[in-house]
Amino acid sequence: MPESEPPPNRLRAPSGAALTVRVQDFARAVVTSPELEIKLKRAPNSPSWSLRDEDLDLSDLPRTPTRAPSMQIVGPRKAKIPSLQGWADPSQRRKILHALTNHELQAAELFAWALLAFPAAPEAFRRGLWEIMQDEQRHTRMYRARLQAHGGEFGDYPVSGHFWHKIGGIVSPTHFICAMSLTFENANLDHTVESSQAALVGGDPGSAVVIDQVRRDEMNHVRFGWHWLRHFKRPEQSMWEAYRESLAVPLHAGRATGKNFDPDPRREIGFDENFIEELRRAHAHTGPGGHRLDKPGGQPLR
Ligand SMILES: [Fe+2]
Ligand SMILES: [Fe+2]
Repeated sequence: MPESEPPPNRLRAPSGAALTVRVQDFARAVVTSPELEIKLKRAPNSPSWSLRDEDLDLSDLPRTPTRAPSMQIVGPRKAKIPSLQGWADPSQRRKILHALTNHELQAAELFAWALLAFPAAPEAFRRGLWEIMQDEQRHTRMYRARLQAHGGEFGDYPVSGHFWHKIGGIVSPTHFICAMSLTFENANLDHTVESSQAALVGGDPGSAVVIDQVRRDEMNHVRFGWHWLRHFKRPEQSMWEAYRESLAVPLHAGRATGKNFDPDPRREIGFDENFIEELRRAHAHTGPGGHRLDKPGGQPLR
């Protein structure tokens, strides 16, 4: 398996076999299969978008992913991640790459989950979810390959459910993009800069190449969220008002930035200046580990 995979060519002609894969069936397998190879199986570019009655029945919508025993989600205290300064140390480097693999796997599972959770959303929106799920699968494969290159394997260490633990209040496509695209992936625009630099300083340029590729994709993923929030919000709302209204507890805007907030990629994506300024203010009120500094005694929100 290559360590760095190019993005899929989404313009290529679909194969006959690809047409037989239904989106809902594939997405359900990504969430509910315990097999990593099934979760990471390459999603076809041109699946079938047909819906059946049972696809609209959300009574059995999974709230957690099914994982193999070695990849089960545990509490954050049991899945400690070394700081980025650990990249130079081979054992800590493996743990960091393991955590990055798990972050991407959760993202792949959650975009698949959104396809199951919002079958009635506009098809253009759902096509975007599908393409991002493809990207997240690819990111998972790339980080896993880096982990393997350093002698590790996914499942070697306990993993947290940082993203999955936040889906409780997500009941609409708007909630989903505010959490995933405009908070977690938005923060990743900063995190990836910090991680890439740490990998380079730590003597691991191969991982830096992968992180940089992930960052380029994250730009598109955040752009997807921005585009659809503008589509879904009420006309009289500003983008910031719509974002804050749909950010489900326990998330808050301070989680949408990394240690160092860089407004430039947000401008490049098309964020308005009011949104950027509000992000800057939220960043200034958020301490290390996600503490809100305006809430004395607040707990880390991981
Ligand atoms: Fe990703
Ligand atoms: Fe992403």
